[in-house]
Amino acid sequence: MFDLIKRLCQSFGVSGNEEDIRDVIKSEIGNKLNEVRVDALGNLIAVKKGKGKKIMVAAHMDEIGVLATFIDEKGFIRFSNIGGVSQFFALGQRVKFRNGVTGAVFYEEKLDDMKNLKLSSMYIDIGAISREDAEKKVQIGDAACFLGETVQEGDVIISKALDDRAGCSVLLQAIKNLPETENEIYFVFTVQEELGLRGAKTSAYQILPDMAIAVDVTKTGDTPECKPMAVKCGGGPAVKIKDNSVICHPEVRRLLEDKAKQLNIPYQLEVLSAGGTDAGAIHLTAGGVPSGAISIPCRNIHSPSEIVSLKDLENAVKLLTESII
Ligand code: CO
Ligand code: ZN
Repeated sequence: MFDLIKRLCQSFGVSGNEEDIRDVIKSEIGNKLNEVRVDALGNLIAVKKGKGKKIMVAAHMDEIGVLATFIDEKGFIRFSNIGGVSQFFALGQRVKFRNGVTGAVFYEEKLDDMKNLKLSSMYIDIGAISREDAEKKVQIGDAACFLGETVQEGDVIISKALDDRAGCSVLLQAIKNLPETENEIYFVFTVQEELGLRGAKTSAYQILPDMAIAVDVTKTGDTPECKPMAVKCGGGPAVKIKDNSVICHPEVRRLLEDKAKQLNIPYQLEVLSAGGTDAGAIHLTAGGVPSGAISIPCRNIHSPSEIVSLKDLENAVKLLTESII
């Protein structure tokens, strides 16, 4: 599973620019399902046909990043965020544009207090000597992702973009080993989640599923002096109760909990105080869709060094598979 995750995490896919990661996911699916299509907004929808319940499973394939907004006469690039980018996590990092051009993110040194650091007082240095020189490599509006190698240390994976390539890998594993079932299952790899669950909204409307399960990362409460939260990395996949975007449907929540208990899959209950996921958009679609979520505990979310447990991922695959067949 590590190799798959590495491949996914290292593919380019900043929100609104999901072409590369979508191609990688498409080739991983191959012809294991009945139909694979790309919709108007770019969501990848892979369908296992059947006469039973219509189930939608969603993981977002986009990642946070930055967007070039202005290039000064010396060739330094100003940028804005795509999704929730922390100025503190961004400082000193490298970003890579889709064409491979790499830059270092730094800040105006005259800043008196680091607490006042803002993305607007930071810039990307691609080693250009002038605006003209920079423009040969980067155009206004070009998106770049943060760099962060994908490595395994014991049971954990450290990487950029585990939000939500970890979820994408869970869906792909479930597709690879999908048992016989009557259900019609829609595996949806959504776009633009980080900008407000946009792809989930339009894909759910096309599918109108009987039930939906989102697979995404969630915060943990197991690092030094962090805010209290009853989820820990390595404690098993989490069954979402609520976040800022959704209160999960009691039937979906019960289904996930019952399956976990029956199969002795370790699991945790998740109440996330801030943030949302695709289930937030899906459950409000049309007349409403009973929705829930399986969350992968993840430390350092939205940093180039996100951390998830491989064991949690494997258990998430089991839990998802058993809940949709
Ligand atoms: Co995110
Ligand atoms: Zn996410």
